[in-house]
Amino acid sequence: MATRDNHQILLAERPSGKLAEKHFRGVDSTIDSPTPGQVLCRPILLSIDPANRLWLRGSDYLEVREGEVMPGWTLDEVIEENQTSIEVGTIVTCESGWQEYAIHPIDDVRAIEPSGDLTKHMSVLGMTGRTAYFGLLNIGRPQSGETVVVSAAAGATGNVVGQIAKLHGCRVIGITGSDRKNRMLTDDLNFDAAVSYKDPSFASDLRAACPDGIDVYFDNVGGEVLSTVLPIMNLRGRIVCCGAVSQYDSKRLPIGAPINTSLLVGRRLRMHGFVVMDYDNEAPQAEAQLAEWIANGELKILQDVIEGLDSAPRALVGLLAGDNVGKRMVRVRPDPP
Ligand SMILES: NC(=O)c1ccc[n+]([C@@H]2O[C@H](COP(=O)([O-])OP(=O)(O)OC[C@H]3O[C@@H](n4cnc5c(N)ncnc54)[C@H](OP(=O)(O)O)[C@@H]3O)[C@@H](O)[C@H]2O)c1
Repeated sequence: MATRDNHQILLAERPSGKLAEKHFRGVDSTIDSPTPGQVLCRPILLSIDPANRLWLRGSDYLEVREGEVMPGWTLDEVIEENQTSIEVGTIVTCESGWQEYAIHPIDDVRAIEPSGDLTKHMSVLGMTGRTAYFGLLNIGRPQSGETVVVSAAAGATGNVVGQIAKLHGCRVIGITGSDRKNRMLTDDLNFDAAVSYKDPSFASDLRAACPDGIDVYFDNVGGEVLSTVLPIMNLRGRIVCCGAVSQYDSKRLPIGAPINTSLLVGRRLRMHGFVVMDYDNEAPQAEAQLAEWIANGELKILQDVIEGLDSAPRALVGLLAGDNVGKRMVRVRPDPP
């Protein structure tokens, strides 16, 4: 049985407060060949996600323990298979985590048909692109002429939400933590306005940017930003609860300011949480539509690629601090020729 060297990044220590690079450690290990029904995969791109931080605290669906390889979504090349239906060289999405090689049962990988640079299959055509698509269109249900507000608007999910809302004839306002990002949203992505939640005048800036109120709020951050948006929501507005990244980077869920639920009642608002995996059966149609918008030049790809597996801890710490513009990922190795 062939054995390969396998560089890995482990969780060294659970963070008791803010995540830092020191909470991870690199190790050199080995990996054997796949047994019957398994494939050996070589990650090419590693997705860096706010959810990674939740897993360190223990989330509904994953909890990482000290000494374990850090989990993560990846795009891989199959380099060896044992009695499976998949061919060596196939590009697959799977959860190989922060390491150079991983073995999976055949049912845990999904083959994709790549076209061109693989990065777009991790950004707009990947999980965050689908999150934007399903969350906005199935839950937010924006109508032409309505006002759509999205937070973490220059991030992986948020920028696609805003662009799709523009394609549906909406007035779109982004919320981010920096003026530089806000300029990019209005100058490059055609957002109607963008405001910073870090600015002391955030609440009045948001009101001024939404003179007709807010019909759809796509919430990526929760916490105080959500509390600020609520009083501006219109009758029968829809709040798409996608995530609450403002609350992830701490030991436990902070007890934030209570939101004013009487506003939900009086204005007949709908708050609706969802997980993108709920829509896995419809993923091919969403990917086809997103690919068509890209091909027609109607949807820009915004991505932020950091080189080298050992950069993954820095990439995740930076994501939580708002360093990224677009979908952050780590390139573990070059695309196969
Ligand atoms: N429901 C689902 O199925 C699903 C799937 C994917 C992602 N999500 C969620 O969607 C959200 C966005 O994820 P993403 O992958 O697209 O990440 P992302 O937006 O690319 O990156 C996270 C962004 O969050 C912002 N942020 C960080 N701390 C913040 C704070 N305290 N307050 C406000 N904003 C803060 C930062 O930008 P700023 O410069 O703007 O601060 C940062 O760039 C997350 O909540 C994630 O958990 C949900």
